[in-house]
Amino acid sequence: MALFDLTGKVAVVTGGTRGIGMMIARGLLDAGAKVYISSRKAETGKAAVAELSPHGDVISIPADISSETECQRLAAEVGDHERNLHILVNNAGATWGAPLEEFPASAWDKVLALNLKAPFLLTRAFLPMLETAASADDPARVINIGSIDGLRVPDLETYSYSASKAGIHQLTRVLAKQLGPRHITVNAIAPGPFQSKMTAATLEQFGDIIAARSPLGRIGRPDDVAGTAIYLASRAGAYTTGAIIPVDGGIWAAH
Ligand SMILES: NC(=O)c1ccc[n+]([C@@H]2O[C@H](COP(=O)([O-])OP(=O)(O)OC[C@H]3O[C@@H](n4cnc5c(N)ncnc54)[C@H](OP(=O)(O)O)[C@@H]3O)[C@@H](O)[C@H]2O)c1
Repeated sequence: MALFDLTGKVAVVTGGTRGIGMMIARGLLDAGAKVYISSRKAETGKAAVAELSPHGDVISIPADISSETECQRLAAEVGDHERNLHILVNNAGATWGAPLEEFPASAWDKVLALNLKAPFLLTRAFLPMLETAASADDPARVINIGSIDGLRVPDLETYSYSASKAGIHQLTRVLAKQLGPRHITVNAIAPGPFQSKMTAATLEQFGDIIAARSPLGRIGRPDDVAGTAIYLASRAGAYTTGAIIPVDGGIWAAH
């Protein structure tokens, strides 16, 4: 079996309908996996399936994963189709920016529910399917999408976002310890700037400055984050767990 081949693997990518989630979904499909994508709107899911289908076997199951019952329903619906889940990518996320004095309590509830609580609840809901897929030689994989804003203090006033990303990095380490003996690896990718709906306004305004500040002199491209996800999901990443991997052109290292 080739080191980076995912033929025969089943993956779930939350927020796989656009942005970084879609970049990762496309990469996993190209590497041979069957991919379930999920986000809130059925219509967006359908459009994403149409865009991704030329790359492989892709199915959309809409769910609002900020609620526990929806996390459980998503796992149950994937379970109606599959016995095994080899790869869970906890990618869906949201941000909120506001000056300290105006920062609403609701922006803590919303951002923490989606960025931090949902990855925990989904990992737990999918555990039986991950364990069925897992073996000592070829563990099942959980890949959490953190952020370099969880490693450094960001420029923008995104209090709950950066705290949620630091939290998901720590949750990654905790779950790696807990799930290693059950043959499941848990790692996080900490992206730097990538083009998406979430970053569109910031990159339009400051994209050139942000790129110039990066040691590699550019923002991220789809292959940059897809490649890291394929590595973590494939035989190449079988011995890596509890790692937080910045994919940021060196921004964090040079910080
Ligand atoms: N882009 C970057 O530069 C960057 C950098 C560091 C980290 N990240 C992280 O990468 C991940 C993806 O971000 P992105 O930039 O690709 O953002 P994005 O373009 O806004 O995509 C977010 C995805 O999550 C889905 N989503 C939002 N709320 C949801 C909910 N309640 N339930 C289910 N799905 C939901 C969205 O679909 P619907 O709205 O249709 O539900 C969409 O598919 C996030 O965790 C983000 O923090 C991004």
